[in-house]
Amino acid sequence: MIRIGLIGGTFDPFHNGHRKLVEAVLKSGLVDRVILMVAGQQPHKTKLKVSAAGYRYEMAVRGVSDLELVEVSDLEIRRPGRSYTVDTLALLRHELAPEDKIVLVYGSDVLFDLPSWRFPEKILAEADLLIAHRGGISQQDAKAQADRLCQDFNARIQFLDAPMLELSATEVRAAAVRGELDTGKIPERVASLISRHDLYGYDDELAVVEPAIWHQLSDYECQVRPLLNHKRLLHSLNVMRYAMHLAQIHRVSVEKAGIAGLMHDCAKCLEAHTVLHYARLAGDPELLEPALAHGPAGAWLARHQFGIEDPEILQAIHYHTTGNGDMSDLDLLIYVADKVEPARTYNNLEAIREAAETDLVQAMRLCLVEVEAFLERENKPSHPYAQAALMKLGVWVQQTDRTDTKLPEES
Ligand SMILES: [Fe+2]
Ligand SMILES: [Fe+2]
Repeated sequence: MIRIGLIGGTFDPFHNGHRKLVEAVLKSGLVDRVILMVAGQQPHKTKLKVSAAGYRYEMAVRGVSDLELVEVSDLEIRRPGRSYTVDTLALLRHELAPEDKIVLVYGSDVLFDLPSWRFPEKILAEADLLIAHRGGISQQDAKAQADRLCQDFNARIQFLDAPMLELSATEVRAAAVRGELDTGKIPERVASLISRHDLYGYDDELAVVEPAIWHQLSDYECQVRPLLNHKRLLHSLNVMRYAMHLAQIHRVSVEKAGIAGLMHDCAKCLEAHTVLHYARLAGDPELLEPALAHGPAGAWLARHQFGIEDPEILQAIHYHTTGNGDMSDLDLLIYVADKVEPARTYNNLEAIREAAETDLVQAMRLCLVEVEAFLERENKPSHPYAQAALMKLGVWVQQTDRTDTKLPEES
């Protein structure tokens, strides 16, 4: 029999308070290993915008990567819609041996909230509780409430005998926005992830985006997640956020920018023959080259697997690898966002990012010039669609030596 301590949380961000709790739970001797359960959409926080699940999962993984006996589960974030503890427990039970014991780890505030959750009697029949004392609730009150739960629900409750490091995620996020990532508050590996992806950089301006749009994006993320490796998922989320940022500036639909940004590489990690198959189904014989075919293949997949019918979104995905001679603002925005999202590190990015803040067409021109220079250096031909975009935007690319230019082979 293995005793599994289950610690759920949004982990937005994963900070040293979470880490200390994990360490204290392991040290208590009351569990044999710990699972961190990254929360999906939370039933109790419908109006609070949390970061995309892919980011939060990655932060949790990095936050405990050096600790033995700890794993991070994506069980909740693999499922679209809201996550209830009773459902998570039922799903987790299928992944464990029948004799294994689940111990839910919570702060003492949960003792008071739990009776109003969905099916508390089932939760408490399935799992034991291990409670960490929290400021604001006296130990005496917590114990009295625990006694009530034992009486009403036959709950099995133990208390954790370790001081908690209580940190405010809101304050840690605010510090991250200011570029003040204190490693006393946040593990270094998490801090570097936040800073590389500018993870909270657009939060203030994107706070006005309707919760319904975030929920829709969250559901799409769930669906696309199995198709992408973790690096590609982070890139897709970066393009999503950066595209939404640009959409607000340039008065493009934020919803469409978010969906197209999130989905633009949905075919990128599939087997080459599958990508080609979908690209052929998309009916564009000009985009069947290996590095380009995931554009039309992604548009086909977005429509037929994810049910996205909006022609503007599908077009932006289709042409994101080359551009074309008749690009909408959304097309421009996705093309540019893909090239200069926050985690991109090649040279000459800042000029494009600066242009993108005021003039999308100029940003597109600069991107195309960089891509053409890269192709020239690699002795690769320019694509006719890119040529059409260059002509349309009135750009004449000089055949010059541009050895300072360094672009990734594809995007
Ligand atoms: Fe791509
Ligand atoms: Fe991309």
